[in-house]
Amino acid sequence: MSGYISDDARKVTTRRLVEMKQRGEKIAMLTSYDYTMAQIVDGAGMDVILVGDSASNVMAGNVTTLPITLDQMIYHAKSVVRGVKRAMVVVDMPFGSYQGNEMEGLASAIRIMKESHADALKMEGGEEIIGTVKRILSAGIPVMGHLGLMPQSINKYGTYTVRAKDNAEAEKLVRDAHLLEEAGCFSIVLEKIPAALAQRVSSELTVPVIGIGAGGGVDGQVLVIQDMLGMNNGFRPRFLRRYADLHTVMTDALSHYISDVKNLDFPNEKEQY
Ligand code: KIV
Repeated sequence: MSGYISDDARKVTTRRLVEMKQRGEKIAMLTSYDYTMAQIVDGAGMDVILVGDSASNVMAGNVTTLPITLDQMIYHAKSVVRGVKRAMVVVDMPFGSYQGNEMEGLASAIRIMKESHADALKMEGGEEIIGTVKRILSAGIPVMGHLGLMPQSINKYGTYTVRAKDNAEAEKLVRDAHLLEEAGCFSIVLEKIPAALAQRVSSELTVPVIGIGAGGGVDGQVLVIQDMLGMNNGFRPRFLRRYADLHTVMTDALSHYISDVKNLDFPNEKEQY
């Protein structure tokens, strides 16, 4: 398959992610929320594309991830899946779609998988949601866990600061990670926790651990695409590396277009019929 930077054009599966961990190959994961972006991200050779509920922030302009609905997540997931050939597409289960009871969680999970054709789901939480995680897994749906900073619980924390700095929270996180692995999760995201703790979890688990703000001792990294491309000027947490300054690139292009239209430079003779 031409155009891929990766020399392996096979579809990325849960099994291949575990094999990557076993041979020490790091997993590259990035969010996408629409068809055009997903095509670019997949074409670049990304291993996993996350249709994150961060769509609530970066696509819809909400302050938290809480308002995004199941229907909206399915819309984003369908758009992404249409643009992807190789990457594994993982979809966040949105707030309120799985915290109620196991059967509600299963029904939400089945809707996402049936309507979007995605490959897997991601859920925030450990022991509190383990029954629902098992229910969904027993329906044959792969689940990625998410521990540490869990943005769907922001109203409980009251802050987006680093989690699990104290011993009690760190030990609970380790217990939760083992519970999720034992339940059958194929991978776990650890968000904004001390690097040493993330490294410990990664070394104790056989499934891949993907970090965001969790240091380099894990099995892969995930970022939000708008943040790493520098589209969002105001968001500059310590863990974020900006690989481009698209805010400046886009603003310059837009200013150029505006002045060309105002100065009657666009369209020219060759740009009309
Ligand atoms: O929604 C999201 O983008 C996420 C990542 C930050 C891991 O959950």
